Amino acid sequence: MKTTTFPLRDFLVENKEVNFDLASSSVSDISVISDKNIFSSFDTGYSDEYSLELERKLVDMYGKVNDVEIVSLPGAQISNSLVFLTLFDHGDEVLVESPNYEPLVKLPKQLGLKVKTIKRRYENGFDLKLDELQESISKRTKAVVLTNPHNPSGVFMGKEKLSKIQQFLEERDIVLVVDEIFRDFVKDGPSALEVGRNVVVTSSFSKIFGMGGIRIGWVASRNEGLIEKIHRMKYHMNLLNSTLSERMTLNVLENRETLLTEVRALAQTNHSMVRGWIEGSKHIEWIPPSAGIISFPKFRSPCTSYELAERALKDDVLVSPGRFFSEDCDDHIRLCFGINTQKLAIGIQKLSMVMRTWD
Ligand SMILES: Cc1ncc(COP(=O)(O)O)c(C=O)c1O
Repeated sequence: MKTTTFPLRDFLVENKEVNFDLASSSVSDISVISDKNIFSSFDTGYSDEYSLELERKLVDMYGKVNDVEIVSLPGAQISNSLVFLTLFDHGDEVLVESPNYEPLVKLPKQLGLKVKTIKRRYENGFDLKLDELQESISKRTKAVVLTNPHNPSGVFMGKEKLSKIQQFLEERDIVLVVDEIFRDFVKDGPSALEVGRNVVVTSSFSKIFGMGGIRIGWVASRNEGLIEKIHRMKYHMNLLNSTLSERMTLNVLENRETLLTEVRALAQTNHSMVRGWIEGSKHIEWIPPSAGIISFPKFRSPCTSYELAERALKDDVLVSPGRFFSEDCDDHIRLCFGINTQKLAIGIQKLSMVMRTWD
């Protein structure tokens, strides 16, 4: 198999020592592990005890949506991978959005799927145009893959639009795959699961609760057959998740509402701060994200997104070059604000100083 690189990941890892990280899309400085006795009576053998409980609790989390089935897996990214690997055949066509989180474009390609893209344009508020989506569907299309909220812009697609897309796809026997890793930032934000049974959702707590290192995520659907296929593939590939991580995640689920309140308050405060800066700046503009801690502003300078990121690094600030999300987004950066508010204020000030050198 021909494999490809993941430049965003490499860039973030290379520069992880930075003091003002406005590139990471996870909430940081949040303490989620409250049960310090977790190790006192822990069975380290093969056990599905925690995954069964975890999957039950995750189903409960989807509340009013009926017949939800869940497979727990080591993170949202593996969940996306198993969806591509299991539900489609070599040569099948999938439609993905652009700009996008890189693996959602490159991974299906590496797995031998045919990848077509549909634009989410800045001029349209990063909205996905229904007529363009419909025109992009061919007889060979087997899935449309969205992120909701959209990564990198943070723009959320409401239920009405999701429903229209789902209906159009259902009539053509096409699966709607939605990566909802940022959805919990949107208070009462509907899950795509609500709109139909030809929907597969992936997620994790890696972003909302800064739990990327715990490696627990899931695939959810109301289509039992699809979930059964993914269960089978999971057993062949990895048997189980880390039981310790499952136990920790169960713990977090107990405190989910309290944690969500804390995280959403941070996101809102930080959003206001970033908005204040951007709206008062002549160097940068944005489509305000619906909620959450990621955004994809556009800057006005002759430099490339990579040059801007490199220049910011000299001042100890990390931002993600827009080109990592789409080649034609070289006048954007992904600006994240899940860090503590004091640090964010300094990071923004430094970035603003860099931009003033363009005057
Ligand atoms: C849209 C999206 N999906 C999945 C992931 C990876 O999630 P996890 O760490 O849970 O595998 C990321 C991380 O940046 C992401 O942005």
